[in-house]
Amino acid sequence: MAANFPMQPMGRFSGPSQPVKRPKEFACFSYDENHEFRLDDSSIKYYYTPRLGADLSKGFDTFRKLDDSGDEHLDSLLKTIVAHEKETGKKIDANVVTWRGTMTKIMAALFEQQDGFEMNATLYQDCLFIEENNDFKVQSRLNENRRGPRRGPPLEVMQYWGYKFETLSTLPRTWHETSREYIEDRENQVVSNKEQYCSVVRTGIGSTVLCLGGEVDAIWDTKPPPGQPINWVELKTSAEIRSPGDLDNFHRKLMKFWIQSFLLGVPKIVVGFRTRDGILVEVQEIETQNIPQTVNSRQGARWNADMCVNFAGEFLQWLRNVINDEGVWRIRRRSGSNGIEVFKVEETGHGDILSEEFKNWRIKL
Ligand code: A3P
Ligand code: MG
Ligand code: MG
Repeated sequence: MAANFPMQPMGRFSGPSQPVKRPKEFACFSYDENHEFRLDDSSIKYYYTPRLGADLSKGFDTFRKLDDSGDEHLDSLLKTIVAHEKETGKKIDANVVTWRGTMTKIMAALFEQQDGFEMNATLYQDCLFIEENNDFKVQSRLNENRRGPRRGPPLEVMQYWGYKFETLSTLPRTWHETSREYIEDRENQVVSNKEQYCSVVRTGIGSTVLCLGGEVDAIWDTKPPPGQPINWVELKTSAEIRSPGDLDNFHRKLMKFWIQSFLLGVPKIVVGFRTRDGILVEVQEIETQNIPQTVNSRQGARWNADMCVNFAGEFLQWLRNVINDEGVWRIRRRSGSNGIEVFKVEETGHGDILSEEFKNWRIKL
């Protein structure tokens, strides 16, 4: 059985936004400096303004880079959910469980014609679990690296800039607990992307309750008591804006920044603007909630936040109707296509989407 969710005409997603819930963190986990899972907030980072003029390429040769070619499925997210359910003694009430990055791809699809994706999904105990299809991810990266000659620094160096900016803009402890020396020596810190703090939230789009897990880069102050909004900060780098064309590009990029931060309830995005060769020249704080208005107020806006929400809301509702029995399903959006296809790839079971630990726990619950 195959089903297709048409994305045209786009007008059917316009109009006021479907209701959304404010994302609430109910659990978290960390990866330590070796990328080992820890059920705590030990890898949280504190924002502290970086020094302008820093060279984002510095230390590239000592980058401790995570090998993320393997397939981690939903394992860490499921581990965290199990721990939470053991504590509360009941199942979480989500209709859909997935990584924030996966949901970002879905929500951006309406306005990202070129981005294809493939995901695997399975229904288990009335909840849909969605993961990215790792083979597709690996293949897409290979294709990207093989794309013809390009100007400017190598892709790996440009990718490093993002992590370098994180190191330049954060502290591993609060400002009070950090020495002046550390703050001033951040440019010489070894950059690693193995350490991560991940927030696990309950949120909602339209009629669908979602449980999402995703990395947050930093916190503005400190974590408040449970249930209260957290002053998360998303860090981004971007080329400095020197022409109307640059501004167009930046506004287009703001869609992904906005979706990514909206989904986890991250209120602030700090953008480090850099020269074409990676010198940090400006830092701008952007309120996530103001982005849709900023983009709309300029002529020829390429995307609309309400339409992203409506599209995601309708797609999720549709998906929950289509995936209504056992097996593993593929969710596929071919690059440039006007629809999202859903079809079954395995008749029974849950493939590798669900860990043994998770299923064993749920059987007992
Ligand atoms: P910038 O995007 O700020 O340059 P995130 O912004 O999601 O916290 O990711 C941190 C950094 O990881 C990014 O920094 C970028 O360097 C790298 N990164 C994230 N997603 C990527 C992708 N799809 N491809 C390549 N690099 C990516
Ligand atoms: Mg990040
Ligand atoms: Mg970031």
